[in-house]
Amino acid sequence: MRRKLAAGNWKMNGLSASVSEVTALTSTHVAPKVDVLLCPPATLISGLATAAAGHPLAIGGQDCHTAMSGAHTGDISAEQLRDAGATAVLVGHSERRTDHSEDDAQIRQKAEAAQAAALTAVICIGETLSQRENGATLDVVKTQLDGSTPDNATGANTVIAYEPVWAIGTGIVPTLDQIGEVHSFIRAELVARFGEEGHAIRILYGGSVKPANAADIFGVEDVDGALVGGASLKAADFSPIITALENA
Ligand code: PGA
Repeated sequence: MRRKLAAGNWKMNGLSASVSEVTALTSTHVAPKVDVLLCPPATLISGLATAAAGHPLAIGGQDCHTAMSGAHTGDISAEQLRDAGATAVLVGHSERRTDHSEDDAQIRQKAEAAQAAALTAVICIGETLSQRENGATLDVVKTQLDGSTPDNATGANTVIAYEPVWAIGTGIVPTLDQIGEVHSFIRAELVARFGEEGHAIRILYGGSVKPANAADIFGVEDVDGALVGGASLKAADFSPIITALENA
C-alpha cells in the first residue's frame, strides 16, 4: 500500500518570514494521514526544518548537484541539503530542464546523488504542449522516465512527479482521463522495469493543482498525491489540498 504524498514546491519564492506558513501547517495538521513535504528555496531549508522539528512534515530541496562536493560555485550538493535538514529533493523539474538545459542523463546522476545522500529523489517528467498536440506524450514520458530514473529506484528512495509542462502555473489542467492515461502508463513502465518494487514507487500529479480541483485529481487511479507549486505557498491553500488527499 503506497502512502500518499502532498508535496509543495515553493520555487524561487519565500523569505524568512515564510516560516509562519510552516507553523500554520504543522498546527493545523497535527498528525496528517498522508506524507507532507515542502520544498522551499535552499536559503530556507534549515529554518523550515527547525520549525517543523518533531512534526512529520518533511523538508526538501529543489535541485542538487551530481557531485557531493567540489569546485561548483553556486551549486548545492545532496549531502549539504541533507545536512541542512532536508530528507528529499526535486530533480529534473521542467523549469530546471528549460532554464538550465538539464537532460535526462544529468537528472539521473542527480537522483543517484540524492539517493547516495539518503534523500528521496522526486523525479519530474512531463510533455510540452506541442509534444502533446503531436501525439508524442507517452513517448516523451517514457524517454524521460527511463533516462532520468536510476536502476536502483525503490518506493523508499524514489517518487515520480508527472507534470505536463503546459499545466504548470497556467491554471490549465488536463482532463481526468488524460491524467489517468499517463499515470497508468507510468505505473506499467515502472512495474515492467522494477517488478514488484514498481508498485511501491509513488506517482504524483503536478500542474495547477488547487483546493478546488484536488479532490477530483486525487480520485484518479494511480495518482498517489500531488506536487503543488503556487497553491503550496500559503498554508491556507495547501492545507485543504492535504485534507483532500487524506480523504481520497
Ligand atoms: P503549479 O506548479 O502548481 O504552480 O502549476 C507545479 C510545479 O511546477 O511543481
